[in-house]
Amino acid sequence: MHSKEIKITKVNPSDWESYKKIRLDALKNAPEVYSSKYSEAELYDQQYWRTLLSDINNIYYFASIKDEIIGVARIALNDGKEARDTAVLCGLYVNSKYRKQGVAKSLALTRLDECFKYKEILKVRTYIKIHNHIAITLYRSLEFNQIGTKEDEIVFEKLIR
Ligand SMILES: CC(C)(COP(=O)(O)OP(=O)(O)OC[C@H]1O[C@@H](n2cnc3c(N)ncnc32)[C@H](O)[C@@H]1OP(=O)(O)O)[C@@H](O)C(=O)NCCC(=O)NCCS
Repeated sequence: MHSKEIKITKVNPSDWESYKKIRLDALKNAPEVYSSKYSEAELYDQQYWRTLLSDINNIYYFASIKDEIIGVARIALNDGKEARDTAVLCGLYVNSKYRKQGVAKSLALTRLDECFKYKEILKVRTYIKIHNHIAITLYRSLEFNQIGTKEDEIVFEKLIR
């Protein structure tokens, strides 16, 4: 797969069924890396997913090839837990059939570019489970620095301006 074939697009509330499908895949196939639970998420109704995707403080992205959605990721802006100058990258998942081909990196770079558009955002953070060596390698390769730990997660940060 050539990286030019990977398309990164924002998710709209009307895409809720596609989002639900890949999010449930993520929770089912990589339960150890997320705090949400598949058994709870599979019960949520359409209104839940539409509300989630309508929240102005969160931006969701799909990665796709042709018409197949193969990855997903989110930026949390102004989430109430971080300082207002800090955005958080989260919810990253790539379908196992399409891994090691630069999809996660494309999603990460698109999200960093988006964060840079917000003048008040100075830092981008991500929280990665201590044992998630692949994600740790990914964010290190994007020059995120380990600034500490929180429970079972490493806190990575990158200054963007
Ligand atoms: C982590 C994950 C998103 C990576 O997706 P991916 O599309 O395969 O990653 P990429 O191909 O873009 O790789 C980007 C970088 O990650 C690292 N990486 C990816 N796969 C790796 C592997 N198997 N071993 C070591 N490093 C790896 C490398 O640094 C790679 O850069 P390089 O190819 O220039 O060396 C994917 O494995 C996944 O969905 N895992 C389950 C969910 C998860 O862990 N999410 C992240 C935390 S929320």
